[in-house]
Amino acid sequence: MSHDLFEAARAAMRLAYAPYSKFPVGAAIRAEDGKIYAGANIENISFPQGWCAEPTAISQMIMGGAKRIVEMAVIAEKLPLCPPCGGCRQKIAEFAAAKTPIYLCDETGVKKTMTMEELLPSSFATDTIG
Ligand code: THU
Repeated sequence: MSHDLFEAARAAMRLAYAPYSKFPVGAAIRAEDGKIYAGANIENISFPQGWCAEPTAISQMIMGGAKRIVEMAVIAEKLPLCPPCGGCRQKIAEFAAAKTPIYLCDETGVKKTMTMEELLPSSFATDTIG
């Protein structure tokens, strides 16, 4: 079930534009419409202007017309079980539930599953603002 998501994340990672860090990352979301939306990190010569794989995948999901993350996989070529960075955790949380599984992968498949609330406990909740 999650293997197709892993494969989509790995395929996305191969499209990463990461000439500065040389740290390709891929992410893939299964959304509420059943479709997979994937993305890679995209860097910039003005370093702070680059962004992570996770927001690329989220952008794909939103522009595909979906709004909810059912499950998500993340993979980095050079770091097995690479977890989403802090900023990405907040971005993912916007579209996920407390129990949404996030799969951390190595080059062969899903190696660890964490829930959204494990990754981002005591989060600033979306409904706080109303
Ligand atoms: N990176 C991601 O794409 N996702 C993460 O959650 C961690 C970091 C990217 C950003 C940058 O292009 C490279 O990895 C090195 O930090």
